[in-house]
Order: sequence, then structure tokens, then C-alpha cells
Amino acid sequence: MSIETKNLSKVFTVGSENIIALDNFSRQFSEGEIHIVMGRSGSGKTTLLTLLGMLDTASSGEMFLNGKSYREIPIASRSQIWNRIFGFLFQYSNLISVKTAYQNIELPLLFRGVPRQKRKILITEIMERLEIKDKAHQRVSKLSGGQKQRVALARELIKNPKVLFADEPTGNLDTETSEMIIDHIDTINKEYGVTVIIASHDSRFLKIASGKTFLEDGKIVSSMQ
Ligand SMILES: Nc1ncnc2c1ncn2[C@@H]1O[C@H](COP(=O)(O)OP(=O)(O)O)[C@@H](O)[C@H]1O
Ligand SMILES: [Mg+2]
Repeated sequence: MSIETKNLSKVFTVGSENIIALDNFSRQFSEGEIHIVMGRSGSGKTTLLTLLGMLDTASSGEMFLNGKSYREIPIASRSQIWNRIFGFLFQYSNLISVKTAYQNIELPLLFRGVPRQKRKILITEIMERLEIKDKAHQRVSKLSGGQKQRVALARELIKNPKVLFADEPTGNLDTETSEMIIDHIDTINKEYGVTVIIASHDSRFLKIASGKTFLEDGKIVSSMQ
């Protein structure tokens, strides 16, 4: 899936002040690429991912999913897109901590009504790939930060998304664990062909990214494809 934006802007009004979080952002995110959006805190990275992920609406400008304008996508189709096309990974993994790793990864499949045996095959495969199979029956609350983040990644990948949005996915991790997540994101991009759009100030993502966009005050200051 490719995504394109044209003159995308987002303005937040706080009291009498207008904050331009994103300022005429035009960019192409190509199918199958890893694209890193870099910039300091407050530069507009999260705002951009939120708009691309259809979690908020733009103040002006346009976005296209495989050439189709976001405006033409009916509200009723959005949950389908969140369930089947988009995956999200955040700094804090938003897992259900009282459930096991396996049960967390299973949730999207339960929603889809996938039969038990099929679920087991899919979950085992993804847990092996992310090297967390030995943690399957541990409660999430007992896992380390890096393990939680891999469970969160598995829970998104099990949906077989076409686009994965990752907002500061290493923001809460130590150096070694971050490297592991970076490597896993690289591998799943290559093996599953999923388009990955990462917002981060972690420059280690540059080595796996083909598309690079640098933001300052909501504006593109430099970009590479
Ligand atoms: N919901 C909001 N209400 C008001 N201002 C916001 C909101 N979300 C973001 N902003 C502002 O928009 C700018 C960009 O924020 P953000 O997209 O979170 O940047 P980043 O993710 O790069 O740190 C910042 O000035 C921030 O304070
Ligand atoms: Mg942010």
C-alpha cells in the first residue's frame, strides 16, 4: 500500500493560540518501504502518524491510500482498515497486562472468528519469528520492556497489516533491546512486505530506512527517498 499526502496541515487551537503542528506536509510513502520520520520532540511526528492512520482529521490538505482520497473512504470502512490494513505500534505497548502474551496476540484473531487450531499455528509462527515463544504463557505484567514491545508487534503483525505505523517504538527501551526491535522491524518488512512508517528521534532507524523525512516545527526540512 502506498500513501501520499498533499499540503497536509494540522492546527490545534489552545485558548487563543493556534499551534501549527503540521505545516503543508507533502510526501509519498511507497509500498513496501521503511520510512523514518525524524525530528525533535514537538516537531509534529505523532501528529503526522495520527493523520496517516486515520485517527484524527487534518485541518487542510489531502491524503491518499493507494491513490484513493481519504475523504472518499466512508466512516463505516474505517474499522475495517484499522483491523485489516493498518497496524499500530506505540512507545507504550497497550497490552492487557493480566493476560498472557499468547492471549494478547490471539485477540485480533478472536475478533475475526479464526478457528482455534488456525490461531495456534499463526500465533506460534509469529512468536517464533519474534523470539518470544518461550514467553507464550507468561502474563504480560511479568515481561520486560523489550519482550512487551515484541508481543505488541506480534499482536499487530498477526492481523497481516499492509502498513505498520510505529510511533517512538524504542522510546522506552534500552540500547540493546532497541537494536533488537529495529532488527525485527527490518526483518518483518522484508519477509512480509509490510510498509513501515516510523516516527522517532532514534537515529539508529536510519540504517534500515529507505525513505527519510526530517521535520522541524511541522515542516519538512530535508528528505530522501
Ligand atoms: N492535542 C493537541 N492539542 C494541542 N497541541 C497539540 C496537540 N497534539 C500536539 N500538539 C502540539 O503540536 C506540536 C507537534 O506535536 P507532536 O506531533 O506530538 O510532535 P512530536 O511527536 O514530534 O513530539 C507540538 O507543539 C505539540 O505541543
Ligand atoms: Mg511524538
